[in-house]
Amino acid sequence: MPLLKTFSSAILALTVSVAVSAQPQITDSRTNFDSTNKVFRLDGGGVSYIFGVNPKGELQQIYWGGRLAATDSFPQAAPQPDWASFDTSYTTTPQEYASWGAGLFVEPALKISLADGDRDLVLHYQSYSEAPDGFDVVLKDIHYEIYVTLHYAIDKESGILARSAIIESREPQAVTVEQAAAASWSLPAGHYTLNYLTGRWAGEWNLTQEKLQPGERVIESRRGSTGHQANPWFAIQSGEASEEQGEVWFGALAWSGSWRITIEQDQLETVRVTGGYNPFDFGYVLHSGERLETPVFYGGYAAHGLGEASRLLHRFELEHILPRTAATASQPLPKPRPVIYNSWEATEFNVNEAGQMALAEKAAVLGIDRFVMDDGWFGQRKDDHAGLGDWYVNQQKFPHGLKPLIDRVHQLGMDFGLWVEPEMVNPDSDLYRQHPEWVLNFPGRPRSEARNQLVLNLARPDVRAYVLSFLDKLLTENDIAFLKWDYNRNWSEPGWDQLPAAEQKRVYVEFTRNLYAILAELRHRHPNVEIESCSGGGGRVDLGILRYTDEVWPSDNTDPFDRLTQQNGFTYAYTPQIMMAWVTDSPHWLNRRSTSLSYRMLSSMQGSLGIGANIANWTPDENALAKRLIAAYHQVQPTIVQGELYRLISPINGSEFSATQTVSKDKRQSVVFVFIHSTQEGHLFPLLKLKGLDPAANYTLSSIEGKTWPGTPQTASGAWWMNHGLEMDMGFRGDFQAAAFRLDRR
Ligand code: GLA
Repeated sequence: MPLLKTFSSAILALTVSVAVSAQPQITDSRTNFDSTNKVFRLDGGGVSYIFGVNPKGELQQIYWGGRLAATDSFPQAAPQPDWASFDTSYTTTPQEYASWGAGLFVEPALKISLADGDRDLVLHYQSYSEAPDGFDVVLKDIHYEIYVTLHYAIDKESGILARSAIIESREPQAVTVEQAAAASWSLPAGHYTLNYLTGRWAGEWNLTQEKLQPGERVIESRRGSTGHQANPWFAIQSGEASEEQGEVWFGALAWSGSWRITIEQDQLETVRVTGGYNPFDFGYVLHSGERLETPVFYGGYAAHGLGEASRLLHRFELEHILPRTAATASQPLPKPRPVIYNSWEATEFNVNEAGQMALAEKAAVLGIDRFVMDDGWFGQRKDDHAGLGDWYVNQQKFPHGLKPLIDRVHQLGMDFGLWVEPEMVNPDSDLYRQHPEWVLNFPGRPRSEARNQLVLNLARPDVRAYVLSFLDKLLTENDIAFLKWDYNRNWSEPGWDQLPAAEQKRVYVEFTRNLYAILAELRHRHPNVEIESCSGGGGRVDLGILRYTDEVWPSDNTDPFDRLTQQNGFTYAYTPQIMMAWVTDSPHWLNRRSTSLSYRMLSSMQGSLGIGANIANWTPDENALAKRLIAAYHQVQPTIVQGELYRLISPINGSEFSATQTVSKDKRQSVVFVFIHSTQEGHLFPLLKLKGLDPAANYTLSSIEGKTWPGTPQTASGAWWMNHGLEMDMGFRGDFQAAAFRLDRR
């Protein structure tokens, strides 16, 4: 810890508090609560997380890092000393859930205003109880009847922690919660690199990496939903960012409403990450006996770089976050996604029975599993000016309802999916004409439109009931396997005039809770239906929505070269299983870039493959190539989307090359994708040293596209592939080139 020299007294105190004492003090082996020293301990995977109650009664973080021996134990947490009169111990101590009061100048986890104007809150430990895989720890204000229950759980395999808080007031008069985090995470002083994801519509998933500096970095959404601009995920690496080396602490917030994560390097260079509801425009009134529950903030630790951090997250998401259908309820993992065809880029709003049937016939020949009809099938929807809210089938386009199309899709051996955008309304719709009061608005103020639409106030019980009932009816009356659930704008004028003025800001919580409740109820009533979270692309991707949705649409940008960067960024936080990737037409509508069908296919095959091109125009050669690659994809899909991902060469920062490798959990198979952006000065593709194979086993390399590469098929040991490496053919040069290989254990 180099900073010890500079900040000797304060940092030394931190070091002392984390020192391991010689004698085991664990008194309750079931809960790992050391009642003598008041130390709580959670172990899972390669991780230990230790916190305790200091002599002042504050709950303080003690250790978060690589797993310690069961015999190791800790003395009672020691609060940090004052750092001069300007930063007292209340600020310098790494509290687990610091409330604003008593001179706190770092980011608070909780800030409350009381009816009498008092805004001082100091939480002290009161009690704990066991939870199935962790603890519930109760804190209470030193004076008021304000209670906070902190929930801690740890996943035994990955060591990923789940933390959240319930804030309860038993004060006779109402109090207002102005800021409420799910958790704060602390790291000791050090040199760190911060990684987070930023973007915009059609440009999501940029991995942003910067040296952590003194002060606060804020990543957030004030938009009412997750947002394209930042994603609620972070990773902090000790020293420089590295894919396979160095300690990493990472986290993801499970919330699809306005959120905020602050990453703060404080006065003493200690790092604190605090995340939860966005305090901007927040104010949740608690009457006596009421509670506010925060979202869950997941946090993990990896000893071996960003690569290991994302592999831990991927497995955790597959095993513990993503929902199951009735068909997969007893399976350890959700099933890989069907290969879909989606009509959006081919037809836009111009859908009708004959046109969709013709596309379905073409799609079936390619080996597509699921046919999805996108926007335009309902109400008076000719373009984006009308129809949202009117969820009846458009009679001109589908005179006999959806049944003939769905039946045809089934006859062709595919299942059927449909686009919906349930939380929105066009002012030009029957729904809005009947219920203008149903949208987010401040009475008498303008209602700002975006894409000619307004946001229904899903927090209202009547809106929630309407949305649930029309979706339930749609799924009951039609044999629909899949909904693409879209959300194409952010909030403006977020008023909820049914409530007293002081309580209207509840909308930030209740809207998203109702969204989750509707999704949960639909899945309960229709246990085989699958759902995609889409928000004009990747505007609503987070661990909250992923408890109820099987996949996401990462971006409206389907350019296969842009997708390499986006897919790279996406996989830092999310599993390739949920990363839908369509092959669309060339030249691409956004960049006017032309690429070969094979390049487009291989780019999309890195995630969950789909086709979104106008296949009515495809040539017999294109059909044959797509059919062959879809069949090849089906064979290796579980390895690609559920295996261990190694990002071998990153496409970011103008890289000439990129490469990924996935290895199945049982190490029987591996898949490698390689891409050349644009060969310069005759550079050959770098030698690829593969990862994660069984060194003693033999693997046979073959081309996924069925090409005969010099030297393939080739059989060699895992050790050979990992140490000697995979050498590309000399002829693999040019612009927008791609190749894919599989290695199968013999
Ligand atoms: C959004 C989605 C697209 C498509 C359109 C339909 O932009 O991201 O994939 O569904 O809406 O209007």
